Amino acid sequence: MARVAVEAAGVSGFDLMYRRWRRLPGCPPVPFTLGEDVVGRIDKLGPGVSTPTVGQRVAATTWSVGFGGGYTESICLPVTDLVSVPEGVDAAVATCLVANYLTAHLHLHRYGRAKPGERLLVHGAAGGVGSAVLELGRVAGLEMFGTASRRNLPVVSDLGAEPIDYRSEDFVARIAELTGDGVDVVVDPVGGARQLLRSYRALRRGGRLVWLGVAATRDGGLGVGFTSIVLVSVLRRLPGSRSVPDTPDVGTHALAHPDWCRSTLSELMDLTASGSIRPLVAERFPLADARAAHERLERGGHAGKVVLVTDTYRRVA
Ligand SMILES: NC(=O)c1ccc[n+]([C@@H]2O[C@H](COP(=O)([O-])OP(=O)(O)OC[C@H]3O[C@@H](n4cnc5c(N)ncnc54)[C@H](OP(=O)(O)O)[C@@H]3O)[C@@H](O)[C@H]2O)c1
Repeated sequence: MARVAVEAAGVSGFDLMYRRWRRLPGCPPVPFTLGEDVVGRIDKLGPGVSTPTVGQRVAATTWSVGFGGGYTESICLPVTDLVSVPEGVDAAVATCLVANYLTAHLHLHRYGRAKPGERLLVHGAAGGVGSAVLELGRVAGLEMFGTASRRNLPVVSDLGAEPIDYRSEDFVARIAELTGDGVDVVVDPVGGARQLLRSYRALRRGGRLVWLGVAATRDGGLGVGFTSIVLVSVLRRLPGSRSVPDTPDVGTHALAHPDWCRSTLSELMDLTASGSIRPLVAERFPLADARAAHERLERGGHAGKVVLVTDTYRRVA
């Protein structure tokens, strides 16, 4: 094990759900600490551990040590979970790579099987995960479309996608108008039966609908999750060439495939250090203002990931 002096910790839609709905499966009894990704510097090693070394900058998920734990100044993690963070990459920026970019990579490449030149539609395209999918889609040479609320349409454009206002435009009609026969992959972190059905209708022959989240619970409540599960199970039974792959969540996948998790996160660190991707930090909040960070995420309209930063971050930044 190694002890990490945390500089930055991610805040996510997942955190909001477990704070609001404590009867969700997997939620531990209160009190518990949220937070599934951290970046910091090793300040102490456990007995018998010599690598990595004290002082090294690292990033990690908290998935292997139980539920959450990332909203903290100090955390002990298995050294096998730690991935080096290049000096020069801001800790808040590096935090975006951990849960969000791993999620984006998994859903775009492994589940969505996106190939260069294919068309991609991303919902919640300015959000933490959505913006990460667009960044990786650009690197993969995809033709991209993204839905967002009006104020974030320029953000979606800057990320290399044709923006669609999800509140005032019908995205199925707009995709048909822009492409003729639809897209090859839809990545949908929004969920809800109507939304998922429309995402499916935006697919061309051979297309894949990759459902990964229920951001629509923000406005629609927990029922969104239930109707999404029912609709997806119906869509999976439909005949035809369009498909809805099974999409185990990123934590489950990472625990089953720790080598994938480490190598993908290292690759993402290199892409960031070289400037090939530029993860978006929506806003940095002091750790003690976690409540304000949650309120910010709940208000919506943010672009990128909301991040908590500690005093250590403010000393080194
Ligand atoms: N399966 C996995 O492994 C995995 C991993 C990570 C996250 N997730 C899930 O993915 C979802 C997104 O997470 P996140 O951290 O990216 O959240 P986020 O930063 O809050 O982004 C969500 C985005 O969805 C948009 N949105 C919200 N309601 C919408 C609606 N009814 N219709 C269309 N767009 C809507 C928001 O746009 P506006 O704010 O502009 O309205 C926002 O940009 C969450 O449910 C999270 O739990 C799943």
